[in-house]
Amino acid sequence: AGLGPRESDKLNDLARETKDMKPEDRLTTDYGVKQPTHDDWLKVASKEHTGPLLLEDPYGREKIMRFDHERIPERVVHARGAGAFGRFRVLESASDLTFAPVLTDTSRETPVFVRFSTVLGSRGSADTVRDVRGFATKFYTAEGNWDIVGNDIPVFFIQDPIKFPDVIHAGKPEPHNEVPQAQSAHNNFWDFQYNHTEATHMFLWTMSDRAIPRSWRMMQGFGVNTFTLTNAKGERHFVKFTWTPELGVHSLVWDEALKLGGQDPDFHRKDLWEAIANGVYPKWKFGIQAIPEADEHKFDFDILDATKIWPEDLVPTRYIGEMVLDRNPDEFFTQVEQIAFCTSHVVPGIGFSDDPLLQGRNFSYFDTQISRLGVNFQELPINRPVCPVMNFNRDGALRHTITRGTVNYWPNRYGVCPAASQSEGAYLEYAQKLAGIKARARSAKFQDHFSQAQLFYNSLSPVEKQHVINAFAFELDHCEDPVVYSRMVERLADIDLDLCRAVAAMVGGDPPGKAPARPNHGRRAPAISQLEFPGAE
Ligand code: HEM
Repeated sequence: AGLGPRESDKLNDLARETKDMKPEDRLTTDYGVKQPTHDDWLKVASKEHTGPLLLEDPYGREKIMRFDHERIPERVVHARGAGAFGRFRVLESASDLTFAPVLTDTSRETPVFVRFSTVLGSRGSADTVRDVRGFATKFYTAEGNWDIVGNDIPVFFIQDPIKFPDVIHAGKPEPHNEVPQAQSAHNNFWDFQYNHTEATHMFLWTMSDRAIPRSWRMMQGFGVNTFTLTNAKGERHFVKFTWTPELGVHSLVWDEALKLGGQDPDFHRKDLWEAIANGVYPKWKFGIQAIPEADEHKFDFDILDATKIWPEDLVPTRYIGEMVLDRNPDEFFTQVEQIAFCTSHVVPGIGFSDDPLLQGRNFSYFDTQISRLGVNFQELPINRPVCPVMNFNRDGALRHTITRGTVNYWPNRYGVCPAASQSEGAYLEYAQKLAGIKARARSAKFQDHFSQAQLFYNSLSPVEKQHVINAFAFELDHCEDPVVYSRMVERLADIDLDLCRAVAAMVGGDPPGKAPARPNHGRRAPAISQLEFPGAE
């Protein structure tokens, strides 16, 4: 089936917003007045003398002032990226899990935009660095926009959003000298990883080949956080979302990554652009892992902990849909740079869980879009939903929508803009039962920081293990503070004693004689978790 009327409107809408320059177009100012030249500022001139410029020239001033303000703040993370338009189709209805048509209606094709990115580098940094890759998808559904703001690695460095500024500050260039601009390999990054044991699983993934993908077309994508789906019977499941590429998952080797970083810093964005321009459209299968609500506590890890995967032998991935990227952007800035993702954008049938990291993200993205793009960011063509938008939000910088009428409040005497009912597709919150006490705390299972890191290391082939060893040796060798690298070498014994010894042999450092006695719970972590509940029954 083709696009529904609303979805195809979106494409027309975008096309209408797109200006094609034609030879018959004549130069004008932004207020539409035709101009005689591109080339000369208005001056007091004579045959002998090119006189002073006149401040009066509105065209000259407009041209320079528009240029002066071309740059907007880059994203605070994931600044470096590119993306493309595409289509999503569900091939097997997930109606046992959700009533969201985007995941159940097999006759639908939903337009999407995907942005791939690195995390730590600035907008002009190189593509092939060792780093996590962002994989963010905006679905323009007939029920509103749904964003899966994912990464190419299934876990994350932190369990609690309050640690996000710390992990990013530690990873970005150091504050005194803005060194290094390469993505890792520095004192602060490894100092933090040493002290913050809940990052162990994630930093191991970032030292694996997953952190130097060969192509964005050959990366998996993971929603990472735990979401929920609710079906028509009102039953709820905890879910994780996965993209798996048709081309398979492939990485560079480190030497290639280093050389490409110098020779062709645009390697990944060019690869995606050229593939699409040549009709070799990248494709991903869309998968869901689902756990019935009643089984929440049946696992030896907390299913709301973003530093843990759900092993597929316990919770298989069911592939129900596919996405193809088949159109390059028309203009980078207005589409790739101005697209604004928010994890809080979900549609009826899809919901959040109490995953603490997700709850924090739901606040953070909306907030950051307001400072990066302005409070009316959702009116930009790339961010506008395909379905009608109507409410009494008003004004703010750069408001586009002109709403006619004499009232902007509810209730009003005309009955204008009443709330929708459930039968009209309103988003209704799942009536989740809540219990607990007010405390800065996490559940006990969040204290296991090492066992999945060990699981991951043991799953690697000998070649992949050697790559991890080489990666740690490269990274720690570039930390000039001996406290940082020697403590970090020792810390690798939390994962595997042979790993620790192999790295120690390459960079120096002091491997412990035997594996740590307490491999399964955090050590040396600051007292971030208050597991006693004073005052609780
Ligand atoms: C971008 C915050 C965790 C994936 C961003 C941005 C912020 C942010 C402020 C910049 C957005 C923009 O300016 O458009 C946070 C916070 C987190 C967190 C507070 C944890 C508490 C994560 C996790 C993932 C992730 C766990 C992966 C699942 C992304 C991606 C982007 C992004 C892919 C780039 C979006 C784009 O391409 O425009 N994040 N993030 N973040 N984040 Fe996170």
